[in-house]
Amino acid sequence: MKKLLPWVLLSFVWAAQAQSFPTRAVTMVVPFAAGGPVDTVARILAEPMRKSLGQPVVVESTTGAGGSIGVGRVARAAPDGYTLSIGHWSTHVVNGAVYPLAYDLLKDLEPVGMIGGNPMIIVAKPGVEAASLKELVAWVRANHEKVNVGTAGAGSSTHIAGIYFANEIGAKLQFIPYKGTGPAMKDLMGGQIDMMVDQLSNSIPQVKAGRIRGYAITAKERSAAAPDMPTVDEAGLPGLHIAIWYGIWAPRGTPKEAVAKLNQAVRDALADPDTRKRLGDLGMEIVPPERQSPEALGAHQKAEIEKWWPIIKAADIKLN
Ligand code: MLT
Repeated sequence: MKKLLPWVLLSFVWAAQAQSFPTRAVTMVVPFAAGGPVDTVARILAEPMRKSLGQPVVVESTTGAGGSIGVGRVARAAPDGYTLSIGHWSTHVVNGAVYPLAYDLLKDLEPVGMIGGNPMIIVAKPGVEAASLKELVAWVRANHEKVNVGTAGAGSSTHIAGIYFANEIGAKLQFIPYKGTGPAMKDLMGGQIDMMVDQLSNSIPQVKAGRIRGYAITAKERSAAAPDMPTVDEAGLPGLHIAIWYGIWAPRGTPKEAVAKLNQAVRDALADPDTRKRLGDLGMEIVPPERQSPEALGAHQKAEIEKWWPIIKAADIKLN
């Protein structure tokens, strides 16, 4: 009884705090470098979430090990709703099959809400002469051991998509890891690396501005954000479909009142016309309201882990 008392008191304190949550700024941890796709989505959501919560949402990058350092920071944070993890398919599914994580992606994180997703796009540095995906594939095959492909680290979506692309065309590629595809994009534009299979949201502004070359998107349908860009099916690599879905999590044990308020802030942000336009312009498709709940995110993440871990483990992805 004596031992139980402090816990009972503590849960009363937490419950009381959860009622008034939030009373200070909420930190959203981006597990990749600033300027990349996760950072961009976090910054687009931060302002409408601030309006909904009545407190600032501060975006912070904690990088390394394919995003697993940043997610680990949140898994170990106090379960009070003030530290959130924003991430996607690779950080919250794939990393568990690639890294010996010191946390459990399902048991140590509390789903807050699903955001939406985007396909990837095959892009190359500006000097590459290939005018179509078929010509790019021919160029990569002819130069294969020399072609450098930027990634956001082992197990990141850009790495897995790059491996998938290499396997499809039967080429051996050199993967160059960065702390995120923000810095990788700078080197692609500068010609220091040759190509990437990148998230559409990161590449499309640069393709449209003519700073890099875009060849095909990894989806069955064209994107409204880039209607002239063919799909892989149209361009010659049928079936190379990859979609990167995003979500927000809190540490496991966060009071349900706080999770509900955070989920409402995500929903309010995703309903905001300006936010929808900004995400849509980048090729991000927002999930419908019935899929924005914590339960829907948790169920989707679990199903994705069950689907992908055997595939990723069989692919025996090397960490260096
Ligand atoms: C990033 O934010 O840098 C990316 O999500 C990493 C990736 O897509 O591989």
